This record gives sequence, structure tokens and C-alpha cells, in this order.
Amino acid sequence: MNVLGIESSCDETGVAIVHTETGLRAHALHSQIRMHQEYGGVVPELASRDHIRRMLPLIQQCLDEATLTMQEIDYVAYTAGPGLAGALLVGGSVANALAWSLQKPVIPIHHLEGHLLSPLMSEPTPDFPFVALLVSGGHTQLMRVGGVNDYELLGETLDDAAGEAFDKTAKLLGLPYPGGPALAALAEKGRPDAIQLPRPMLHSKDLDFSFSGLKTAVLTRLRAAEADGKLTEQYRADCAAATEQAIVDVLIAKTIAATQQTGVERLVIAGGVGANKKLRQQLKLAASKKGLSVYYPPIELCTDNGAMIAYAAAMRLKHGLVDADTADYGFSVRARWPLDELTTAVA
Ligand code: KG4
Ligand code: ZN
Repeated sequence: MNVLGIESSCDETGVAIVHTETGLRAHALHSQIRMHQEYGGVVPELASRDHIRRMLPLIQQCLDEATLTMQEIDYVAYTAGPGLAGALLVGGSVANALAWSLQKPVIPIHHLEGHLLSPLMSEPTPDFPFVALLVSGGHTQLMRVGGVNDYELLGETLDDAAGEAFDKTAKLLGLPYPGGPALAALAEKGRPDAIQLPRPMLHSKDLDFSFSGLKTAVLTRLRAAEADGKLTEQYRADCAAATEQAIVDVLIAKTIAATQQTGVERLVIAGGVGANKKLRQQLKLAASKKGLSVYYPPIELCTDNGAMIAYAAAMRLKHGLVDADTADYGFSVRARWPLDELTTAVA
């Protein structure tokens, strides 16, 4: 069965085709980063309009790459939430209209389920259960994944997400959007221990996070350095390195604690911040000391993409979690949608 997947929850238009038995057949992506850069962040209305422009050419590109015709698509899956409402509506409309014209079923997918299951697309594949650290621009969560559709929330951020902390601090440092990769690049020239920053909630005994205080701490340091005439390029690099290290330290400590609390020995890192090299290297080290194995999605599938949506749909199909007969092509999207509210009937 060929599943077409459509992702449009934020600033990436992603399309992919996954075969339920043989896996990923084609995957195409358009990032809107350059368009939003001018504004220092995602402009929702511009995002929606650009999704409209990009969607059909990307679908055609995938069909060509997989040497398939539209009629050979058996299911159409799309991100139904969470995300920007207008952007989600574009993907939802295209998916439902396409499925209606083909008289094929549609499968609405939870964006975070896409991220959670994406490490299953790379080799070696983790067995269930695993602990997943989901770190994106909008979410920072630790989950216990017992299987497909078996997700238990262990802890989450009480304020900013880890990606948001990267992005907001990067902005303070005058770096372009999205801040994560830019801050990580600047951090390579800095010394993480040159500036002391807090590790919020490191010793809080639970598995929750808080990152909003970090940007305030950085702002205070930058203002003081400016007043003292010490705001050099090196100081900015040191600030970037110290911020990255503070975020990475907290993420690693809580993730290791989650494995101890659940007794699960497999770890999965998903979401855009999972592309961070320092997080990858240091987590690998910390995990190996505890005898844990760590799994990642392929690096190009860490940030938003259509492959994870098509793949999550394929997994739901395989596990009998799709009720294809009820598809009436009426749909809604959910800008806010806690993953633990996900049930068999997603729509
Ligand atoms: O999963 P994603 O593509 O979109 C959301 O669903 O939010 O994640 C985007 C986030 C942004 O905050 C971006 O700054 C961050 O992931 N990010 C990184 C890196 N690459 C992307 N953060 C730190 N280091 C990176 N290399
Ligand atoms: Zn995402």
C-alpha cells in the first residue's frame, strides 16, 4: 500500500510516499526559512500562503521520484495538529480534496506522533518500549513509548520549549532565524564554561523542564557586558556556547532520569533540536556510561518533514488503527492537541 504524507504544520512544506512494506519511496521538502528570516520568526499568514504555492509541485515531485501515478496512491495522510491553524488547514484541504478525487481514504496524523516514530525509519531500529525525548521549536517532552498509539507523558516543559530557548537566545545574540543551528555554529567558537548560566530545574526530582529563565539570564549577562565595554565577538561566542551547554545539560540529565524511572533501556531523540551535534555527542556518552542505547531519525528527518507523517500513517495502518470506512472528507484541524489525547479515532 502506498501512503502519501503531507506536512504543513509550521514553516516546512513536506510531502513523502511511504510503502507499508518497503518503507520510504520518495520525500520532498520546501523550507520557508528564508521567507520568514526577514521578520525574525514565522509569520503565520505568509506560511499558509506559501504552503498553497508549494504543495502540488512537491506532490508531483514525489510521484515522479517514486515513479508512481496519482491513482497508485492508496491512502492520503496529513498533519491534523498541533501547529499553526491556517497552515494545517492547507495540508488538510489538499489531502482531503485529493483523497476525495481519488476516492481513497484519508488519515489525519498527530504531528508529534510523526516525530516520535521517525527513528523507526533509520537503521538500527529501536524495539518497543523506548523513552523518547521530543525536542522541537514548540515542544519539549519526555514520553514512554510502549508501541504504536501507546504514549505516556513522563514530563514536559512548563514554559519555553528547548528549540524556543535556542531561538530566543539566538535573537538576543543578533543571530538570524531559526536560531538553533545559528547558535550552535557560533558556539563552536566559544567556551561553554566562560560564562556561568543556570541549569533550570536540574534538581527538581520530576521530569519537567523550564527554559524561560535562561534567556533572561543571557540578556542580563549581555547587558552587563555591553555596559562594561566587554561585548566582543568572543563574548558572544562564549554566551552561545554556555547557552547550548546549559540546555544540553538539562536535557541529558532529565532524559537519563526518565530511563531510570521507567526501567527502559532504549532512548530515542526526535524533533528539530535532535539535530544538535553537542546534544547527540554528549547524550551518546552519558547513555553509554549507563548501558543505554540511543536511536535517532536520519538527520534530515529530525526537523519537520512529510516522511514522518506518511510513516506514522503506515504504522497506524499496520496496527489496525485506521478506520478507513468512516472517511467522509469532512475535516478539522487542532492547533493545540496534547499527544495523550490521541485515541484510535484520530479525527
Ligand atoms: O521539529 P522542528 O523542525 O519544528 C517544530 O515542530 O518546532 O524543530 C525546529 C526547532 C527550532 O527551534 C530550531 O531552532 C531547532 O529545532 N533546531 C536546532 C538545531 N536545528 C534545528 N536547535 C539546536 N541545534 C540545532 N542544530
Ligand atoms: Zn515538528
